[in-house]
Amino acid sequence: MEAIAATARWTAAVRARESQRQDRLFDDPLAAALAGEEGFARLDAEPEVARENPFIVIRTRFFDDWARRVTASGLRQVVLVAAGMDTRAFRLPWPPGTILWELDRSHVLELKQSLLDEVKALPGCDRRPVNVDLASSGWPVQLRDAGFDMASPSAWLAEGFFQYLEAEDVERVLAAIAPLAVPGSRFGLDLLSQDFLQHEWMQPYLRELERQGTPWRFGTNSPESLLAAHGWRATVTEPGSEGAHFGRWPWPVLPREQPGWPRSFLIDSVRE
Ligand SMILES: C[S@@+](CC[C@H](N)C(=O)[O-])C[C@H]1O[C@@H](n2cnc3c(N)ncnc32)[C@H](O)[C@@H]1O
Repeated sequence: MEAIAATARWTAAVRARESQRQDRLFDDPLAAALAGEEGFARLDAEPEVARENPFIVIRTRFFDDWARRVTASGLRQVVLVAAGMDTRAFRLPWPPGTILWELDRSHVLELKQSLLDEVKALPGCDRRPVNVDLASSGWPVQLRDAGFDMASPSAWLAEGFFQYLEAEDVERVLAAIAPLAVPGSRFGLDLLSQDFLQHEWMQPYLRELERQGTPWRFGTNSPESLLAAHGWRATVTEPGSEGAHFGRWPWPVLPREQPGWPRSFLIDSVRE
């Protein structure tokens, strides 16, 4: 499996381990099957400090809560951008009539489907996997061919994706989403700060990711401006702050005004 796709199995392994904890922030019973040996091996090869990092767990719970909220507010079209081994279609309580599209590369979605079929997993919504290359210009047509209605509001979720892209590909994906999302649509995503990529503390980890063939390339210190340029009003939260702590973030949260620090942003945005 190509290196970037392997990150999806690693993420599933993190979710599987969390699901075994007494104080788990979510239960993902399919995650272990989707991670497979490959996902757990990659996780176990990490230095302990990275393995213990609560970011993925907090991010998962943060966007679980987000998905519940946005569908409770009436949205019935949900698009998982770079869905990987995300199992929300199966484990969240979707309102009747919800359609959920999973966009990712064909080899990821085909492997996922075969693993789901083995355990006879049944989605709680109308789940529609769509094999795409998000770096291409053709995927919006594929999404519409799979039944996406451009005239109705939608919820978009891009989790653990943009840091792997070059800046021009980030712009291309955001520009492709914009015309598909009518006002009132929502966009959940996470981003790194540019300072994260430059901070000396992060360099050993970033070099390790590069060695594994999955370098982190993109970050921005102003997610608000990036998203505003594509028509989204963003509310930016950092892990450890209100609504994103869950009793599990071990570090202090520094004020946004303090420059130069590695940061991760959890973002909810509304299409204006
Ligand atoms: C770190 S995983 C995150 C998966 C999922 N969102 C999650 O949080 O579990 C990144 C995903 O991006 C997908 N991806 C990367 N580049 C892509 C592209 N050009 N087109 C479609 N998917 C892509 C990979 O296949 C992988 O599943």
